[in-house]
Amino acid sequence: MVVLAERQRRAGPHLGGRVGQVPDDARQAMPFHAATKYYSLHETDAGDERIGIGDPARRSAAIWQKDWEIKPFLHKVYETVPPIELARDLPDAARPALEAIAATGAGTSGGVLDRSLLGRLGLLTNGSLDRTWTTQDGAVHHYRTAGGTGAQYHLELYFVCTDLADLDAGVYHYSALDHSLRLLRRGDHRAALVDATGNAPSIAAAPVVLAMTSTFWRNAWRYRERAYRHTYWDAGTSLSHILAAAASADVATELVFGYADPLVDALLDVDGVRESTVALVALGGSAGPAPDTPPPGRLDLPTRRLSTAEVTFHAITDLHRASCLGTGVDAADWRSRRWRRPDRPPVGELTELAPLPDDRLDPRPVEQIIFRRRSTRKYDTGAEIPFDAFSTLLERSTRGVASDVLTPGAPLTELHLIVNAVQGLVPGIYRHHPGRNAVELLRGGEFRREAARIAARQQYAGDAHVNLYYLAHLPSILQRYGDRGYRLAQLEGALHAGKLHLGTHALGLGAVGSTAFDDEVIDFFAPHADGLDYMFVTVFGKRRPRTS
Ligand SMILES: Cc1cc2nc3c(=O)[nH]c(=O)nc-3n(C[C@H](O)[C@H](O)[C@H](O)COP(=O)(O)O)c2cc1C
Repeated sequence: MVVLAERQRRAGPHLGGRVGQVPDDARQAMPFHAATKYYSLHETDAGDERIGIGDPARRSAAIWQKDWEIKPFLHKVYETVPPIELARDLPDAARPALEAIAATGAGTSGGVLDRSLLGRLGLLTNGSLDRTWTTQDGAVHHYRTAGGTGAQYHLELYFVCTDLADLDAGVYHYSALDHSLRLLRRGDHRAALVDATGNAPSIAAAPVVLAMTSTFWRNAWRYRERAYRHTYWDAGTSLSHILAAAASADVATELVFGYADPLVDALLDVDGVRESTVALVALGGSAGPAPDTPPPGRLDLPTRRLSTAEVTFHAITDLHRASCLGTGVDAADWRSRRWRRPDRPPVGELTELAPLPDDRLDPRPVEQIIFRRRSTRKYDTGAEIPFDAFSTLLERSTRGVASDVLTPGAPLTELHLIVNAVQGLVPGIYRHHPGRNAVELLRGGEFRREAARIAARQQYAGDAHVNLYYLAHLPSILQRYGDRGYRLAQLEGALHAGKLHLGTHALGLGAVGSTAFDDEVIDFFAPHADGLDYMFVTVFGKRRPRTS
């Protein structure tokens, strides 16, 4: 275990440059990050590991001592708004899943934007599956098409659209409970989003904009303050589904993170404290100009109560408020801060990736893959995975996305890998170099035991064939993007991991997103990860065959 002073010494100058003064708009994210680190608390008599959060000296348990009396309901339900039915049958899509998954979203949009497309995006992202589980309070819940931390499902989807062929212009909520839309505001309200984004070109041209929100309490009930990280992990995971489903339908997308939060929240009629917008997605690209509309008034539509009592975690609401943008002008200014992480030249031996060519991809479309996706925690430790599958997943999951602030092919996060069992690669620690289409060997060795340990003592990480750690140099990101950069850094790794997770199923493999002990991760990857922070980890590999 590396002591704190040593860690602070190592975290000094990084990437060949010094980070200057912390800007005024970047003072909250670092303390929040430190206060929400996971570490090993102690082992119980039963041999279980307890997870601690925040300052080790204060030794508090990370997982909320679950009060089942106030367990939040997993859906937002508008009680007085009638549902608009959506089809469940999905049209046949021709594009192989791995093509749709890897698409950045940029390009011409030949696909049709209609009610069925909105239903398709809702179903493939937040839709309920037949698969159920029963919680301690006896309630039966449905798993969703996209995974989420602790299956707490705190994200909601809204669509803001002009008149479509079979749907009137309006602001709609997608209800996962009954796979339907609910009309919240009639009329074309896209101008509010054009204003909120300071005239973002993709939003101004989009016939439909998807807005994703999180109701923090729905995740914080279990994970306390760390739920704010999970907000963006789960948003990134869900966005990987949205982008792949839209690409499969030949609809262009751009992710937009620069928007005045209060203006978007007001349009959706969410309060921005309890439920807040976390991302916008411009869908399609040749709409006429949005008509002028007066500022949206309050709707106050009754929704089903989530819990008999809710707890506000001020660390979450404070950071969210601190990372908000106030006006469209602020949004345009923030967008202009787009930043590329400097490349760190390799020092170790490079192995060039050898992804499968297009004509060898599984022809099944992503829609089929999404319905088969599960989290995999049991891996075949007696087998290796092929190098071409490993290469394909790495290369196709990191091409990036069209976005107002992220640059395709130039991720903010650095990918560090633990390779346990890949054909042709010596086991060990590697770093991914997307620009060189290669992995760099940092240290050879068997690290299964350490892999399970740093992933919060979860054995699946030791058993999996590969662990992918998305690490970020937070000071540089916050220097450039302010506290709002924290949202980006958390989301980007999970977005790439979400793409990878879907990709594993198109290659006959499996994956699971994971949590980890922050400082143990950085210590483990030392000295190569000095100065970096743990953002997210996912593991993947060959599923263990079922016995009997
Ligand atoms: C961002 C993210 C983090 C996760 N972290 C863990 C984890 O630390 N341990 C674990 O067992 N499962 C983890 N999961 C898996 C979830 O528990 C799983 O997605 C959820 O229970 C729904 O199951 P499904 O993915 O099979 O649909 C994570 C999933 C996501 C998306």
